Amino acid sequence: PTVLLLNGPNLNLLGERDPAQYGSTTLADVEKRVSALGAELGVDVVCAQSNHEGALVDHVHSARAMDGIVFNPGAYAHYSIALRDAVDAVAAPCVEVHVSNVYAREPFRHTSVTAPVMRGSISGCGVHGYELALRHVVSLISGESR
Ligand code: DQA
Repeated sequence: PTVLLLNGPNLNLLGERDPAQYGSTTLADVEKRVSALGAELGVDVVCAQSNHEGALVDHVHSARAMDGIVFNPGAYAHYSIALRDAVDAVAAPCVEVHVSNVYAREPFRHTSVTAPVMRGSISGCGVHGYELALRHVVSLISGESR
């Protein structure tokens, strides 16, 4: 099986941007760790990041040929109906990740328009959230959880 690890806008700056909120681990480190966990769990992890909404829609569509998605939509989670519809159009299970605890932050971050079409969401577990999400996606793929 293949799982897409997809990161949205500004997450290319992970590790440099606002470390009090997002920690000091870089996106390259996250991709390495998640890929290593994938190897352990028997899935190939394909990594992608974009700062552009339409490009993210295309990446989500590319997962129509894959088995699952771990997706941090960044700020788009709060208002992109296009990304929500893209996730809704893909049969593969998608789990949302936010590195920070969005519920402890500004009220505009408390709403996710994408979360209702996800198979789960994780917020506030730091970059560890990506690995937790991968574990859940893999258990959904293997039929061990629902
Ligand atoms: C984020 C939370 C969003 O509110 C924010 O716009 C981001 C990162 C997170 O991972 O905590 O860019 O998705």
